[in-house]
Amino acid sequence: MIKADSLITDIGKLITPVGPAPLLKDNLGALRIMEDIAVASKDGRIVWIGPSDKARVEVELEGSFHSAGGYTVMPGFVDPHTHPIFAGNRSDEFNMRIQGKSYQEIAAAGGGILNTVNATRAASGDDLMASGWDRLNRMVSEGITTIEAKSGYGLDTESEIKQLEAIRELDKRHPIDIIPTFLGAHEYPPEYKQDHNAYLRLLTEEMLPRIKEEKLAVFCDIFTEDGVFSISESRFFMSKAKKLGFKLKFHADELTDLGGASLAAEMGAISAEHLIFISDKGIEDMARSGTAAVLLPGTSFFLMMNKYAPARKMIERGLPVALATDFNPGSSHTQAISMIVTLACLNMKMTIEEAISAATLNAAYAIGLANDRGSLEVGKLADMIIFDFKDYHDLVYNWGVSHIEKVVKRGKVVFIRSHIFFKDSGPSAGAIVL
Ligand code: NIG
Ligand code: FE
Repeated sequence: MIKADSLITDIGKLITPVGPAPLLKDNLGALRIMEDIAVASKDGRIVWIGPSDKARVEVELEGSFHSAGGYTVMPGFVDPHTHPIFAGNRSDEFNMRIQGKSYQEIAAAGGGILNTVNATRAASGDDLMASGWDRLNRMVSEGITTIEAKSGYGLDTESEIKQLEAIRELDKRHPIDIIPTFLGAHEYPPEYKQDHNAYLRLLTEEMLPRIKEEKLAVFCDIFTEDGVFSISESRFFMSKAKKLGFKLKFHADELTDLGGASLAAEMGAISAEHLIFISDKGIEDMARSGTAAVLLPGTSFFLMMNKYAPARKMIERGLPVALATDFNPGSSHTQAISMIVTLACLNMKMTIEEAISAATLNAAYAIGLANDRGSLEVGKLADMIIFDFKDYHDLVYNWGVSHIEKVVKRGKVVFIRSHIFFKDSGPSAGAIVL
């Protein structure tokens, strides 16, 4: 008998990608589908997966029991690119954008990222944690069980550290797992707009060493973009970060084809992200270096760009492709990862199966955690979603709505859909009398 402290039975279909990660080319769409399954876990990790009717004889349960009621279970989503810690709100800019102003025009007029920087600098660490907490709850309710979270709305030493400390505290207190990224090179702050070298010195001589010493970030990221950090500025900053032991991520080729993808490949980055304007050379360079492509179709959608990253070309060329929300106050203000999966299918022509793997196992790979999560296999974390559909295509096909019944983090139920009073009665029960 296998000892367990949590058991989920009556899983009509267990749908999961299977490692080893990263899943490339045809393997990206090869999901494992098992019927009438149960999953047992102990201390937050899966210890047994087997036929539901064998669970009672093979598993010795001391702990909680849940039935999936014949419905579908998948791994919790991993979101490998988010900006969840900030103050303020940019709905006014959203209004300007729908009336025709572009994201870049708003940024050039002092709005955009700098708008959020002003609000974040003025906020206390407690304020940042309180608003962050609510956003993390929303993520969990969308089935996300692990995220990468970036700083980048402080742009001075104290404010960047305030954001990263908020991330660290939230990771300790909230069930979701948070992997921190230092994004001090998100934009030039107003006081250094005319003196890039001085800000690069501040980043490399003061911020990076302190963040390293206080172990506040695993990854270091930069916004390599026309009008933000140039290729040579990015190379300079990221080589210092690499020397200090940070793993590298790049916001690359998001708004223009600047060559950020090639730079990420040259520097051995774990991932390059966005890549809406990536060139064929960028794809070739990333294919050679094995750098993961984290694609964010929510950003193209929310910025009304009519242009999406060339996912099909990337998959065919053998890049590890992952999906993320890019949750942030400006360019993609959503935690709805299932909507991102739908956008990936509709606008980047990924298959439903590819998009599911890209938002789970390959997403975990893009933050260095594929050994541990992103698929439902013995030994991995018991991070799971119980959906209310029997056919997993509904995740994408019945779009824009949540199908989540329960979310399980490390074997514990952390979210249950709020009660719909007449859900179980069904039409045969007759008219509902109110
Ligand atoms: O990933 N590109 C830079 N950073 C974010 C946008 C941040 C913002 O608008 O606040 C992004 O799109
Ligand atoms: Fe981003």
